[in-house]
Amino acid sequence: MVTRRRVLTQGLQAGAALALGGFAGRCLAQQTPPSHADEMIINSAPHARTGALLPATPTPAVLPKETQAVSGANSLQAHASKHGLVAGTAVVVRALQHDPAMQQLIAEQYGVVVPGNELKWVALRPAQDQFNFTDSDALFEFAKTHHLLVRGHTLAWHNSVPEWLQKSPKELDVRKLLVDHIHTVAGRYSGRVHSWDVVNEAILPADGREDNLRKSFWFERIGPDYIDLVFRTAHEADPHAKLTYNDYGVEYDNPDETARRAAILSLLRGMQKRNVPLHAVGIQSHIKAGSPSTIGKGLADYIESVRQMGLEVYLTELDVNEDDLLFNDVAERDKEIAKTYRDFLTVALANPTVKSVLTWGVSDRNTWLNDGPTHFRKQPNRPQRSLPFDEAYRPKETFFAMRDCIDARKA
Ligand code: G3I
Repeated sequence: MVTRRRVLTQGLQAGAALALGGFAGRCLAQQTPPSHADEMIINSAPHARTGALLPATPTPAVLPKETQAVSGANSLQAHASKHGLVAGTAVVVRALQHDPAMQQLIAEQYGVVVPGNELKWVALRPAQDQFNFTDSDALFEFAKTHHLLVRGHTLAWHNSVPEWLQKSPKELDVRKLLVDHIHTVAGRYSGRVHSWDVVNEAILPADGREDNLRKSFWFERIGPDYIDLVFRTAHEADPHAKLTYNDYGVEYDNPDETARRAAILSLLRGMQKRNVPLHAVGIQSHIKAGSPSTIGKGLADYIESVRQMGLEVYLTELDVNEDDLLFNDVAERDKEIAKTYRDFLTVALANPTVKSVLTWGVSDRNTWLNDGPTHFRKQPNRPQRSLPFDEAYRPKETFFAMRDCIDARKA
């Protein structure tokens, strides 16, 4: 096996330290031994040497040798399963279908997948009287073939309400429509879903309500009890799935997120009082490199409060937005991004009630942070390097940071 140490040694012998890229160069200078036998030289692509813009690279036809070296016993899932965790990722089904290398990478690295879009209302409901299960069925087939668990995402989210529904007349019985939708969708996959993000992002203190509920489409058309309704209906439709409340903005120690954590806990306590079926809380984990806020007591206390309520916690959409890093060098950025993962996972994984860690994508080739309707890059000429594998599907420092944090977990 070619280890990082061996590559570095060879590089030193050849006097080619600079050609190995910034990260390797730093290791050489520091004479730091690798912490893993399988840690390969990373960031050795031409752009890594210069910090220049990423070239548009073709989809890799096969997994590079660096990636093969971290498969099997060295994979994220192999490490996770030894520490009471499942490792996973979001997938984009249509991209996956044309990408055998990505299929192999997901099958080798993870134990659970979540469709990034394919179970949302906008994807499933082209019209009031239509369901389109083509892509979601394909995802379940893929998971079955590779013995992966599936998370469902999501039954009610303000940001995935089809246009025909937003424009529907006031007379439309939206409550009945929602209940029927859940019976059809959660019922179709009943027994095959590990956990459902039943309601997504229902809290928004800025909307000014005493209960901090977001004034979403569902809220406006059904009322505040839509949340209980969705959970109760999901439980009827799939009594096996762990029903999860999923939200963002709970990771940092700052006044905004302190308020969001308190509001979510209050919502969950109310649901428990009303005997609403609820099994888990999703922490989306969209974190930022170079954030002025720190990750620490607020997140730790939040997770512990959830544990004391008898609920599990899933880290559901982990990635790092690096827009605010002021330097361009790829190796330096990767180091900072990996550190951000470490800072977060060290706190989050310390609590045994955290049972899974999923990133929102596998490779920098497919991240919502490289433009889309929910995010536009502040630095349009600098694609984000937010995920554990690079655009050529090589493991980055982030991959090893994740694995280290999993291994450090006492739970
Ligand atoms: O597939 C269609 C394509 O056929 C069409 O030509 C194109 C034109 O707009 O749209 C494509 O669909 C887009 C889809 O992403 C796939 O790329 C949708 O318009 C677009 O709305 C969708 O954005 C997704 C966004 O949620 C909104 O649903 C992102 O991919 C997805 O990563 C993001 O995920 C959310 C989580 O669900 C909740 N938490 C935050 C997270 C990031 O915003």
